[in-house]
Amino acid sequence: MAVPIIIDCDPGHDDALAILLAAGDPAVDLLAITTVAGNQTLAKTTLNARRVCTLAGIDAVPIAAGCDRPLLQPLVVAEDVHGESGLDGPRFPEPTVHTVTEHAVDLIHRVLNDHPEPVTLVPTAPLTNIALLLTRYPQDAARIREIVLMGGSTTRGNRTPAAEFNIFVDPEAADLVFRSGVPVTMCGLNVTHQALATPDVLARLEGLDTELAQVCVQMLTSYASAYRRLWGFSHPPVHDPVAVARVIDPGIVRCTRANVSVELRGQYTRGATVVDIHRYLDRPLNAQVALELDTERFWDRLVGAVRALGSARG
Ligand code: BDR
Ligand code: CA
Repeated sequence: MAVPIIIDCDPGHDDALAILLAAGDPAVDLLAITTVAGNQTLAKTTLNARRVCTLAGIDAVPIAAGCDRPLLQPLVVAEDVHGESGLDGPRFPEPTVHTVTEHAVDLIHRVLNDHPEPVTLVPTAPLTNIALLLTRYPQDAARIREIVLMGGSTTRGNRTPAAEFNIFVDPEAADLVFRSGVPVTMCGLNVTHQALATPDVLARLEGLDTELAQVCVQMLTSYASAYRRLWGFSHPPVHDPVAVARVIDPGIVRCTRANVSVELRGQYTRGATVVDIHRYLDRPLNAQVALELDTERFWDRLVGAVRALGSARG
């Protein structure tokens, strides 16, 4: 049975690939896509979700726009990584897939309550929508099977020395999610930096010879140049699909149970995830923390999903 999921995202190059993986892999049933401000403004991330879905023929999955700013602090976007559009690189056709009129939080609430089984949430963006859901509809926690998120790190950050972008943008939301009591799996930078889009991966996508695969290559090429320029990476880490892959096949991402606390006050460390892998502190084991990626199986699933969605070029 496919695992029912909702993706909450801010596309974003790697979010776009997460959407494709979720829509194209038979092991998950993508019930909804919700958007939030993060990599770019809400208007841009929502437009990008519609663009990706239009291109990939994902037209039966409702898309809803959510929060346009973090709970407490002003929005910080990642224009340096994802560009002015939030998805710089390819030229997308005019989107024909539209959003529903509901707010993302209300759409998630409705889907959670309409679905016969508990649903897994896969946030690949700042956690503002999810925190608002748990605040506005606390009874919905029981309808969530698990929250498998991309964010944080067991080691260093990528927006500050200590903080990863998704947590840095809305630390209060992240804190609320980690303390909610809902089972959380954290796929942080320490594991997503193992998902590198190497020339071999690009060649596999090229070889699919579909328009969708071509756009994936263009996205990855633009994303790669940002990673080279900003961080000196030879190949860019494709963060967000790692969280989807964990739901598709938990064996792809090895995890350990630990306490994760979000630093809210540190002078230099606000937004850091403090991960107590060695259990120094007597604090609840509130998360499964991803440590290791089976890269071969990961890329097999991602390339397989793009193949399944793509139609032959020309
Ligand atoms: C995360 O930040 C965003 O830029 C990416 O889409 C990913 O979700 C990585 O830190
Ligand atoms: Ca993202």
